[in-house]
Amino acid sequence: MSEPDPALTFHRLTRHGSPVDRWRLVDFRSLDPANRPAPFKRYVGLEARPLTRDLRATGGGGVDEAELARLLFFSAGVTRVTNSSVLDTRTYFRATMSAGNLHPVELYVVGGGTAAVAAGVHHYDPLGHALTPLREGDFGGTSIVLTGIPWRTAWKYGERGYRHLYWDAGAMVANLLAVADADGVATRVVLGFADDEIAHLLGVDGTTELPLAIVMVGDEAPQWSAVDDVALAVQPISPHPIEFPLIAETHRAGVLTRGDVVAWRDAAAGLGVPTAGATAPDGPRIEEVILRRGSTRIMRRETAPRELLTRGLAAAAGPVTGDFVGNGRTLLEHNVAVHGVEGVPPGAYSWRADRRDLQALHLGDYRDETELLTLRQPLGGDSAYTAFHCADLTAVVGTLGARGYRAAQFEAGIAAGRLSLAAFALGQGATGLTFFDEAVSQFFGTHSACMLVTAVGVPDYRNTAGGLPGAATELTRYSQLMERLSRQLHQAR
Ligand SMILES: Cc1cc2nc3c(=O)[nH]c(=O)nc-3n(C[C@H](O)[C@H](O)[C@H](O)COP(=O)(O)O)c2cc1C
Repeated sequence: MSEPDPALTFHRLTRHGSPVDRWRLVDFRSLDPANRPAPFKRYVGLEARPLTRDLRATGGGGVDEAELARLLFFSAGVTRVTNSSVLDTRTYFRATMSAGNLHPVELYVVGGGTAAVAAGVHHYDPLGHALTPLREGDFGGTSIVLTGIPWRTAWKYGERGYRHLYWDAGAMVANLLAVADADGVATRVVLGFADDEIAHLLGVDGTTELPLAIVMVGDEAPQWSAVDDVALAVQPISPHPIEFPLIAETHRAGVLTRGDVVAWRDAAAGLGVPTAGATAPDGPRIEEVILRRGSTRIMRRETAPRELLTRGLAAAAGPVTGDFVGNGRTLLEHNVAVHGVEGVPPGAYSWRADRRDLQALHLGDYRDETELLTLRQPLGGDSAYTAFHCADLTAVVGTLGARGYRAAQFEAGIAAGRLSLAAFALGQGATGLTFFDEAVSQFFGTHSACMLVTAVGVPDYRNTAGGLPGAATELTRYSQLMERLSRQLHQAR
C-alpha cells in the first residue's frame, strides 16, 4: 500500500474525538501564560508610516491609498479592546474572527509605486493602522500577501493550529473580498505560488512564518522578480516558541517551486463542483456590517427568518475568483443542521450550491446532537442552524497534493467568514466553531471531511459595534459575558 499524502496523515493526527497515535505530536503545556505569543509582529528599528484613517469609500474601483487602507483595516484592523481583570492586559479584537482570538495571520502589501503604495514590500500593523516599509522595489500592481505564524495559534491548539492558519486567513479574505466587491475593485486569490520565493521577498523564514495566500487587487498585474536578501530584526514572539515538526512537515509537503506552479494551477482549474454566485444583498454597507460583527457567544433558541439560511448559505457557498479551483466552482460541500428556521422542518440537510436550495438527509430535532458534534458547546445546538463546511479530501489531495489540503481549509475559512458577514448584515449573529471530525461525517452520512463549522442564529445579547482606526471600542461588559458563557459551558457538561 502506498503511503498516504502527508496532509491526510496530518489531518488524521489532528482530529478531535478520535484515538490518535500521539507519538508524532509534541507534548507541551497548552496556553502556558509564561510563554504567551505576542499578538502583533513588531520590527526593531523600522518606522511604520500611518495610513489614512478616513475609511469612507471613494468609489470608482481604483486602488489608491484610501482604498488600500479600507481593504487592510476591514480585514485585519483592531476594532475593539478590553482590559482583562485577570491578567491586567489588553485584549484586542479585530475585524475578523479568529479561533481563540489569537490572530496568527499577518498581512503584507507588495506594490510598484502606484497611487496605493510606495514601490516595495510593506508590513501592515493592525493596531497602529500603519505600513512598515521592509524593502524597496517595483513589483507592478498591488497585492496583499497573507502569512501565518504557527506558534501564535499552536500555543493553544498544538498541531491542529496549522488548520487554524488557513481558517483565519480565509475569514480575513472573506472580509477583503467583500469590501473590494462593494468598492468595485477586482480581486484574484492566488494559492499557487513559489513558497520560498515569496518568503524571501517578505523577509520571513518560511518555517516560523509561512506564506499562505496572495490576493491581487486592482487591474494591474504584479511583476515579481528575484530580490536580494533583506535583514529584518523582529521582537521575539515569546520567551520559548515551540516548534511542531508535524506542522513543518505537512507544510513542506505542499511547497511549490516556480516550475511547479503552472501544472498545479492547471490541475486546480479542473477541480470543484459548480456553485451559483450569491447575489449582492441589499442592506447596511459592508464596513458597517464588519464593525457590527463580533462572534456571538450565546444564542437564543428562536425561529429565524428563512432568509438567514438561504442568503447565508448562498454567500458561504459562492465561488471565489482564484487559482485553486475551477471558475464558478467550489471545493466544498455544506451540510446543515437546521434547528429553528421559518418554513424549514428541523433536520439534517445538504446545501445544493448550484441550485441554492436544501436537500433533506434526515429530519428530526437534532439540537442535542449538534451540540455534541461541536465539542459539546451549547452554541452548536442553540443556533437557528449550524453549517458544516466539508471537503472530499481524498479527491482534493489526490489531485492537488498536500497543497490542495491548504486550499480546502482556506476555502472553508472564506465560507465561514462570508456566512458570518451575511448573518450580521441581516441583524443576527454567527460564530465559527470547532468539532469532532469523524462524528460530523457520520451524522451527515458523507465521506467528505469536515473542514470548519459555523453556527448562525439569534444572539442573546446586544453586541457593541467596533470602532475605526485609533478609535477601537472599549468593551466594558465583556468579562460578564464570558462568565455567563463559562457557566453555560459547565452546565452543559
Ligand atoms: C476557525 C474558528 C473557530 C472557532 N471556534 C470557536 C469555538 O469552538 N467556540 C467559540 O465559542 N468560538 C469559536 N470561534 C470564535 C472565536 O472565539 C472568536 O472569533 C474570537 O474570540 C474573537 O472574537 P470576535 O470574533 O468577537 O472578534 C472560532 C473562530 C474561528 C475563526
